[in-house]
Amino acid sequence: MCGIIGYVGSRQAKEILIDGLTRLEYRGYDSAGLVTLNDGAVIVKTEGKVDELKKRLENKPVDGKIGIAHTRWATHGEPSERNAHPHSDEKRQIFVVHNGIIENYKHLKDELIKKGHKFASDTDTEVLAHLIEEDYKGNLEQAVASALSLVRGTYGLAVISCLETDKIVVARSGSPLLVGLGNDENIVASDVSAIIRYTKEVVYLEEREIAVVKKDGFHSFSGKSAKDRVALVEWEIEQAEKGGFPHFMLKEIFEQPKVVEDSIRGRLIEEDGLAKLGGLEEVKDRLGKCERLIITACGTAYYAGLVGEYLFEEYGGLPTEVEYASEFRYRKPIIERDKTAFLAISQSGETADTLAAVCEAKRKGALVLGIVNVVGSTIARETDAGVYNHAGPEIGVASTKAFISQLAVLFLFTLMIGRQREMSFVTGRKIAGHIKRLPNQINSILTQDEKIKEIAQKYAKYNDFLYISRKYNFPIALEGALKLKEISYIHAEGYPSGEMKHGPIALIDENFPTIAIIPKDSVYEKTISNLEEIKARKGKIIAVATEGDEEIQNVADDVIYIPETLEMLTPIFSVVPLQLLAYYIAVIRGKDVDKPRNLAKSVTVE
Ligand code: F6R
Repeated sequence: MCGIIGYVGSRQAKEILIDGLTRLEYRGYDSAGLVTLNDGAVIVKTEGKVDELKKRLENKPVDGKIGIAHTRWATHGEPSERNAHPHSDEKRQIFVVHNGIIENYKHLKDELIKKGHKFASDTDTEVLAHLIEEDYKGNLEQAVASALSLVRGTYGLAVISCLETDKIVVARSGSPLLVGLGNDENIVASDVSAIIRYTKEVVYLEEREIAVVKKDGFHSFSGKSAKDRVALVEWEIEQAEKGGFPHFMLKEIFEQPKVVEDSIRGRLIEEDGLAKLGGLEEVKDRLGKCERLIITACGTAYYAGLVGEYLFEEYGGLPTEVEYASEFRYRKPIIERDKTAFLAISQSGETADTLAAVCEAKRKGALVLGIVNVVGSTIARETDAGVYNHAGPEIGVASTKAFISQLAVLFLFTLMIGRQREMSFVTGRKIAGHIKRLPNQINSILTQDEKIKEIAQKYAKYNDFLYISRKYNFPIALEGALKLKEISYIHAEGYPSGEMKHGPIALIDENFPTIAIIPKDSVYEKTISNLEEIKARKGKIIAVATEGDEEIQNVADDVIYIPETLEMLTPIFSVVPLQLLAYYIAVIRGKDVDKPRNLAKSVTVE
């Protein structure tokens, strides 16, 4: 949440800061601001999106070869110009941009007020600027270090000062920060998408690390030199651009066949009915001895975890439970050392609750694994072993391609643990053969784009939707409902079809359409009965069904077909029409699909 970019080098900072903010905007977009240093400081801030900041900057001389900037998702203090970052001390000599939350800011603020400090905003961040000023004795990094020693909470931050105009001081604790290394310039950012246009060489700050970044160097308080820590970013700049699509979300939906191909490439051994996940090789034997698996995640990633539960129990023979990370971290989970494995699923690898759950599971002695998309992210580094999704950067706030890649990795994971346990070679080979065909089959769903758009036109006027399914596709009902809620602000609920009679059927009438995911699977007949009950109450039905199923047309008002595959693999198909449906309904209703209200990519605060 929130985006940070900072520049120090031989070019004018403004263009790089603005370009960085534009690329980071998916992280938060309720206000934005920047400061550059030349002969004194130029600070420009606005409420609203980065475009507003750009307008404010038109014809304004903003010189300086060093600067920091921020795009905000409000935690403390309403979205407004006065609460936008950067924040400064009263003398306007020290400037701070910050992601995270300073939990003890009220106490610190009261103490500072007693000492005569006057505050200009309602934010927790401003406290940092005043603390640094208070501790400043001629060395900015020392002042930052002693200010941070008083702070409780999370932070990724960048600090510059008119008193030392050649350096950016950066620090992190629980919120990511990295330094992109260039020629005669260095760029600080909270996310690689902001720097890949300029450099692929990055140093990820470690937990509680403080460092000084100058145009020709990086110096960490930890004493570790940049040279030994440089990582190469594999993402290409084109992946972080819209490439002719009106929205990132649509582009990312259409990328999904390739994403699945990338997720399974080199990992599927079809002829042997096996999956080889390089990142798990070292812990494979330990995993083989585990008697229980706990999956934890948030939001869309949690729904992928729910699919994982069905997969691992049916095909892996591994008792599995799935829990919201936000709940897991505050429970007293029973973890048996050497017998419990723990799997965190996260696109960003930075979700605060998931990270806290990972740390708790580690502390209790579980074998901690991850399925993570962002290479080098905190969860990827904190887990004992893991698998990267290879989905590329996901910019649309509503997760689509990352979810698909999580499913693809879970299929491989199932094959791996299944074959380690009871699964036969014949079953393994059958599953592997079907997994291999997935990318082409997803492509065929995307060709129905126009038809789905028409269905969206027909239903966009409704204000409530019910999503139902059973077994492997029950989590997809939840995911479909979440997609619609997030980007169109329409009320939508996901339920297991079997729960209808226990309450939700009371909602059904001609104004409450149901979206039913009903592939030809082992529970098809059961779901058909549920649909009959809905139809009998005048409920409209959109069905996502298997190609060739004509019977479904007798009960559904509209049908979207998905290709035939194994029951266990159907979620990776059924989610695609639901993503498109949510997308088109949101577009028809005039919503900002890529930047839905109140949301931001990567929830790095609790
Ligand atoms: C929904 C969505 C969120 C995320 C959730 C977890 O479209 O994007 O629900 O899935 O915040 O994020 P990660 O996967 O980054 O841990």
